[in-house]
Amino acid sequence: MKIMITGGAGFIGSHLCERYVKEGHTVICLDNFMSGNLTNIRHLLDYRNFKLVKGDIMNFDLLEKVMQDVDVVFHLAAQIHVDRSYIEPKLTYEVNVMGTQNVLEVARIHDAKRVIHASTSEVYGSAQHVPIDEDHPLNAPHPYGASKIAGDRMCYAYIKTYGMDISILRLFNVFGPRQRDFGYGGVISIFTRRVLSNIPPIIYGNGLQTRDYTYIEDAVRAYDLVFNHNEPITEPINFGTGKEVSIMDLANKIIGLCGKKGEIKPVHVESRIGEVERLIADATKAKDLLGWKPKYPLGEGLKDFIHWYKNYGFEERIGIE
Ligand SMILES: NC(=O)c1ccc[n+]([C@@H]2O[C@H](COP(=O)([O-])OP(=O)(O)OC[C@H]3O[C@@H](n4cnc5c(N)ncnc54)[C@H](O)[C@@H]3O)[C@@H](O)[C@H]2O)c1
Repeated sequence: MKIMITGGAGFIGSHLCERYVKEGHTVICLDNFMSGNLTNIRHLLDYRNFKLVKGDIMNFDLLEKVMQDVDVVFHLAAQIHVDRSYIEPKLTYEVNVMGTQNVLEVARIHDAKRVIHASTSEVYGSAQHVPIDEDHPLNAPHPYGASKIAGDRMCYAYIKTYGMDISILRLFNVFGPRQRDFGYGGVISIFTRRVLSNIPPIIYGNGLQTRDYTYIEDAVRAYDLVFNHNEPITEPINFGTGKEVSIMDLANKIIGLCGKKGEIKPVHVESRIGEVERLIADATKAKDLLGWKPKYPLGEGLKDFIHWYKNYGFEERIGIE
């Protein structure tokens, strides 16, 4: 099959590129490297069935050229950072809404068989009921979440108007190797870098805000089950562990697993505006429809991640910033 992965040089996208290249599919990775890294995909460049296109999903003409004969589109390219979305709401809107619309439109023109769209648990905002199922109101309080809601609605419009096969995946906080640990990186990577460098992790507010953390291998399996599903899945679908973890507990777990208990303590600073207080997944639909169940408990995922980070994480960052 011919697959295009937008955002394929990013954290999740690069794992998908790797999986499908190794399965023998033809994979086109389209990325403008806004937050992606060549180091994430360098090992794939020698594969004849892998093609890297440096380009922007805002470039409609480029998409039209690159997406000829593409069977399945994994659309992950996005401005994904909540903090950055406060500072750059326009960019966030342009990439996540207009960019998504471009991808959908070209997929329509070229008759792509399936589009798999990366939505996010951040569309829900702070939980009004727990766990959060797919019927939970969409109350994201920040521009990132709002742009993702708009992207989801655009998918819905293309499903309804053109009968397209578009899946909308809502993963809850994904972590694992290749996640950025600088700038607007993921919390687990940033905490790990700080703790291993003997710098205390920073917690905004009291640290009781919670998230549901999904290990990258479980996330890739979620994408793969959707990719291989015979029937279209056109309703949004949650993927998360159903385990609620406070940021305070997370920081202490990472400190413990890095062997720094008693040496380092988290530092509290003022809370951030619009921070979501509580996120916890109800992934019943994913289980019923696809048989997806998370295999990695948080502790196991963290151990694997910290092991990777110690061996490769620091090294892979050289020359990136
Ligand atoms: N990481 C998570 O916890 C998580 C959870 C739920 C959903 N998601 C979604 O999954 C997707 C991938 O997230 P990630 O964590 O891998 O982030 P990431 O930042 O590592 O990946 C995003 C990729 O998109 C690329 N990109 C950004 N703007 C682009 C543009 N205009 N044109 C082409 N490429 C562009 C970036 O360079 C990067 O490689 C995103 O859509 C995100 O919203 C992530």
